[in-house]
Amino acid sequence: MNILILGSGGREHSLAWAVLQNPKCDRLIVAPGNAGIAQIADCAGLDVNNPGLICDFAVENSIDFVIVGPEAPLAAGVVDRLRNAGILAFGPTQAAAQLEASKTFTKEICDAANAPTAAWARFTHAAAAKDYIRANGAPIVVKADGLAAGKGVVVAMDEATALAAIDDMFDGAYGAAGAEVVIEEFMGGEEASFFVLCDGETVLPIGTAQDHKRAYDGDEGPNTGGMGAYSPAPVLTDEIAQTALDQIIKPTMAEMARRGTPYTGVLYAGLMIEDGQPRLVEYNARFGDPECQVLMMRLGGQALDLLLACAEGRLAERQVNWAEDHAITLVMATKGYPGSYQKGSVIKGLDAVPETSSQIVFHAGTTVQDGQITATGGRVLNITARGATLLEARDQAYAMARQINWQDGFYRKDIGWRAL
Ligand code: AMP
Ligand code: GLY
Repeated sequence: MNILILGSGGREHSLAWAVLQNPKCDRLIVAPGNAGIAQIADCAGLDVNNPGLICDFAVENSIDFVIVGPEAPLAAGVVDRLRNAGILAFGPTQAAAQLEASKTFTKEICDAANAPTAAWARFTHAAAAKDYIRANGAPIVVKADGLAAGKGVVVAMDEATALAAIDDMFDGAYGAAGAEVVIEEFMGGEEASFFVLCDGETVLPIGTAQDHKRAYDGDEGPNTGGMGAYSPAPVLTDEIAQTALDQIIKPTMAEMARRGTPYTGVLYAGLMIEDGQPRLVEYNARFGDPECQVLMMRLGGQALDLLLACAEGRLAERQVNWAEDHAITLVMATKGYPGSYQKGSVIKGLDAVPETSSQIVFHAGTTVQDGQITATGGRVLNITARGATLLEARDQAYAMARQINWQDGFYRKDIGWRAL
């Protein structure tokens, strides 16, 4: 079959890599892709947030299956458009993608489904929001309602920070995403990510992972899109995962179906675990980046069969074949990220870390200039390794990272510390 993947990050490189392990894939196109993806698939420079354009491209290129990586095309309705044109697509409809696109929507669904999550309130005016903060005190969490590229959340440890966040949001710091603000109870505990596929009815768990959101070692520095991940996450024991399925995920999926907007695709549940009890932090309507890289490393070619079964409504027939393995990925980012940074520095040494069954370097923000791989983004490379233990995988990943010669890059030296 002919497959089109939408996106340009390490997540999409790992999806492309996994899809190509499966003999069902005859031709793979990735739009827009990156320098690493271009080494294994055809790339097409398309605007992935334009559903009409994507649909026309899919028809013209006889695409049988489209896999959507990031959230923006989902929120723009690309899956709806493709399905209307009779093209099989992996991902939720625009209505179902609201689970990520609107925090208020998710909170209402959780309340209707009786799913454990933080107490919350919604505000459209600063004065009322501030009264609520003063009444409840800190720590407290302030969130812009809409999509803010993962940046619209302020975990305020004191009241002044929370009040300042209200001013920022209503002053337009997050654009339209901040016109409505959600204020939440602060939840303590350890965070982990739980990934399931849902075909509108059946829910199939496909793995757990833990991300490292802060830029620097010891969980210091600003929040990022994620500086590294590993899978499985031991904090999400089988028992806690089952509780999360029974109390949070399945009731949410049932509520979505009951409302006439069944959820199809991967559901990424961010959970906070305290005293053995999981509570929902947030849902994302896509794979995490870099969590996807460790999941794909562990799933390999069967990932395509799972995504196809999900899109075709056949998940009940499938199960995941797990190896007893662990995977880890280190994010190499450009110095300065997540703030401003220089673009265009050359990355050397990639030849010293060839792809094997236990290691691969996924590309994120790279491009080819004058025949050399150069950095064009904040998060640039994902050094990914797999082993019988997390320790083995981690040591291998750090050995790989040391081979790469990139003056402008940095990476955390403590990925996996909680589990080790
Ligand atoms: P979100 O974009 O909703 O995932 O929030 C970003 C990060 O803020 C999460 O990964 C958590 O680390 C933190 N966070 C969000 N909501 C809460 C909460 N209610 N209590 C504690 N931490 C939170
Ligand atoms: N790594 C966090 C995310 O993809 O949202």
